[in-house]
Amino acid sequence: MTTTSAVPSALPAPAELPDAAAYAQAVEEARAAAAAYYEGGTSRLDDDAYDRLVRAITAYEEAHPDQVLPDSPSGKVAGGAVEGDVPHTVPMLSLDNVFSDEEFTAWTASVERRIGREVASWNVQPKLDGLAIAARYEDGRLARLITRGDGSAGEDVSHAIGTVVGLPAELAEPVTVEVRGEVLMTTAQFEHANQVRTEHGGAPFANPRNAAAGTLRAKDRAYTVEMTFFAYGLLPLPGTGEALTTELTEAAHGALMDRAAAWGVNTPASTRVAGVVVPTVEEVLARVKEIAALRAELPFGIDGIVVKADLAADQRAAGTGTRAPRWAVAFKLPAVEKITKLLGVEWNVGRTGIIAPRAVLEPVEIDGSTVTYATLHNPADITRRDLRLGDHVMVYKAGDIIPRIEAPVAHLRTGEEQEIAFPATCPQCGSGIDTSEQRWRCERGRNCYLVASISYAAGRDQLDIEGLGHTRVVQLVEAGLVESLPDLFDRLTREQLLALDRMGETSTDNLMAALEAAKRQPLSRVLCALGIRGTGRSMSRRIARHFATMDLIRAADAEAMQRVDGIGPEKAPVIVAELAELSEQIDRLAAAGLTMTEPGATPPPPPGETESDEVAGPLAGMKVVVTGAMTGPLAELSRNQMNELIERAGGKSSGSVSKNTSLVVAGEGAGSKRAKAESLGVRLATPDEFAAMVADLLD
Ligand code: IVH
Repeated sequence: MTTTSAVPSALPAPAELPDAAAYAQAVEEARAAAAAYYEGGTSRLDDDAYDRLVRAITAYEEAHPDQVLPDSPSGKVAGGAVEGDVPHTVPMLSLDNVFSDEEFTAWTASVERRIGREVASWNVQPKLDGLAIAARYEDGRLARLITRGDGSAGEDVSHAIGTVVGLPAELAEPVTVEVRGEVLMTTAQFEHANQVRTEHGGAPFANPRNAAAGTLRAKDRAYTVEMTFFAYGLLPLPGTGEALTTELTEAAHGALMDRAAAWGVNTPASTRVAGVVVPTVEEVLARVKEIAALRAELPFGIDGIVVKADLAADQRAAGTGTRAPRWAVAFKLPAVEKITKLLGVEWNVGRTGIIAPRAVLEPVEIDGSTVTYATLHNPADITRRDLRLGDHVMVYKAGDIIPRIEAPVAHLRTGEEQEIAFPATCPQCGSGIDTSEQRWRCERGRNCYLVASISYAAGRDQLDIEGLGHTRVVQLVEAGLVESLPDLFDRLTREQLLALDRMGETSTDNLMAALEAAKRQPLSRVLCALGIRGTGRSMSRRIARHFATMDLIRAADAEAMQRVDGIGPEKAPVIVAELAELSEQIDRLAAAGLTMTEPGATPPPPPGETESDEVAGPLAGMKVVVTGAMTGPLAELSRNQMNELIERAGGKSSGSVSKNTSLVVAGEGAGSKRAKAESLGVRLATPDEFAAMVADLLD
């Protein structure tokens, strides 16, 4: 077996350690990585590489028990990396890991063998990606915060009291208890923390976990940033009192969490991945899948799912090892972060003239796909984060999101890294660059990318002009026949087309017919073809349906524009300004006979009159999501056409499933969206069932 290393040029993580020297080196590497992990530094290993290294170390130790080094991370809480001076009343343990349904099922069988009966019920909850902390409350007041440390003693980080959301200074009842749980940074808290930190001249944290670790330990910072706490344990302290001590030792895990929440402590119950109690392994696995499917959308990081025997009696019977309890296990999810190398930066000009940097990476496997590119927001962001070519960078990708670079791993620098050069002129057309805003833009704006914008306008989801592909557009632009979109309709002649290379009578006639047909496309398509900044297919449809005619769209001011669903105060003035800029083109398109009305839409009432929110059609008022491959009468429809159909039927189309979704049309190969619909109890329909619902609108 070959393993891909997270840091290919720096450290190949071996599947097998050949000899004692390799073993010793691996132990040293793992120890340094564990120290960085628990103390908030950045390691040269990401989580996957660390897990692989520890597995190789454990395998070597099993084969050579006489050679085990005292520094070995195996069998130790926190890899033996950290110490502290505040003793824990009960050790704070790690969790054993499983990586597949089979491993999990085998683990449950081993627990049940050990206790000699079936586990009555399982508690399934998210594995929060932060740091373990013990919060001691005395008579209801938060008195002390202690890190996990080496498991038997931790570090006092009480200075962080007041900065952790979810750990109230005072509980709803004057109880003396220890709440255990995870401190983390939500994505929003992380972004804010890095913003504040870089403004104070500090290096950005590589990920939310490091940010939480670093922030928790930092004592004398000139600024404070917030973190969030989620509880996953509740235990008595010496002063707790007999009755409550008995209750806390006898209660099921789920009941303890309810108790913590009732006292005002934050628990996963406040999130979409609340803990659930289920009786069977099958139901556990189903919940594991649901949580995994929700992962990419959560506002905080999880790196797995924790499954615990819920009843105290089952936990007692299973017992506890030195490193981890035997009644709980972590079902690890694939890592969403990897370290790789920044090889280059490309500057791409979009159809509106925006010049966007994109990172070219040494290819790396994340969550089942190979990542080669990542977004780099804008030049100011590159400068702020001090990224350099050749840097090792932490890359984050989850679900369908575009991979992004979190930060350079600064301590892996060799000194050979190069500054990233910013373009002095537009890489597309050589004109000057407007750098007055964070996002750079070619001075020629959308004309810079004439070919791209004409090709976009001719595309399947816009004017759908068959025969006008990229090569043909290049030909037309290079011959000077097309300088803007309306030229296609009011300037281009049959003779000009015939005179072009590789244009015979038939292709010319076909293209002329396709241009004629484009004039019948609805307003929403025409609007989309104009390539207005901040709008795409679905926004163009919403605008067209809302105003019903191009005249009314053009008459709208920013306030009127904001009445369109999804347009806020930032976007509205941009759209209004773009429409004004395109005024001449729109006049010409209208004069050339393109459709300037939206079939089936009715104009909004004049100001002052209240808008009726009555919508007609078989899907009136419904929010519909389409996923998977369409079949039967819908087989030929693109996703865009499906969305158009939904909206013509009075519904709203959406790309993501939430509890507000009314219907999910799930075709063959539907994956996480279907799973999510099932978990949320959202109604599902097959493509055929859906076709029957909208039969009147299908030709
Ligand atoms: S239970 C005795 N539950 O994962 C059981 N731990 O890899 C010990 N963690 O040290 C912990 N979410 O920092 C538990 N829902 C959860 C958790 C969780 C995250 C962390 C915790 C623990 C580590 C073990």
